[in-house]
Amino acid sequence: MKRCSIRATKWRISEALVVALVIVLGAVTAVLAKDDGAAPAKKAPTGAQLYAMNCGRCHMERYAKERTDAQWQTIITHMRVHANLPGADARKIIEYLQASN
Ligand code: HEC
Repeated sequence: MKRCSIRATKWRISEALVVALVIVLGAVTAVLAKDDGAAPAKKAPTGAQLYAMNCGRCHMERYAKERTDAQWQTIITHMRVHANLPGADARKIIEYLQASN
C-alpha cells in the first residue's frame, strides 16, 4: 500500500510539471504574439529616414539644398555603391533629396 502512495505522489509531481510547462509555454507564446502584433516599426522607411540611416555613416549629411537635381543624381549613383544600397532605397533617397532642394 505504501509503495502505491509513493508512486501516486511521483505521478502528481510529474503532472504538476507538465501543467507548469504548459503554463510557461502559453505565457511565452502570448508574449511573442504580442510582440509580433506591436511591430509598426516594420513599416517601410521613408526616403528621409533612409537618407538619415545610410548617408551619415561615413561623412556629414549634406542638406538637400546644397546640390541640384542633376548633382544628386550623380552623387546617388556614386554613393549607393559606397552605401551598398538596394535600388529601391536609392530611388527613395533621391526622390526625397530632389523634392527637398
Ligand atoms: C561607406 C561610406 C559612405 C557612405 C555610406 C556614403 N558615402 Fe558619401 N562619400 C564617401 C566618401 C569616401 C566620399 C568622398 C570620396 C568619393 O567621392 O568617393 C563621399 C562623398 C560624398 C559627397 C561629396 C562630398 C561632400 O561632402 O559634399 C556627397 C554629397 C555624398 N558623399 C553623399 C552621400 C549620400 C547621399 C549617401 C547615401 C546614399 C552617402 N554619401 C553615403 C563615403 C560614403
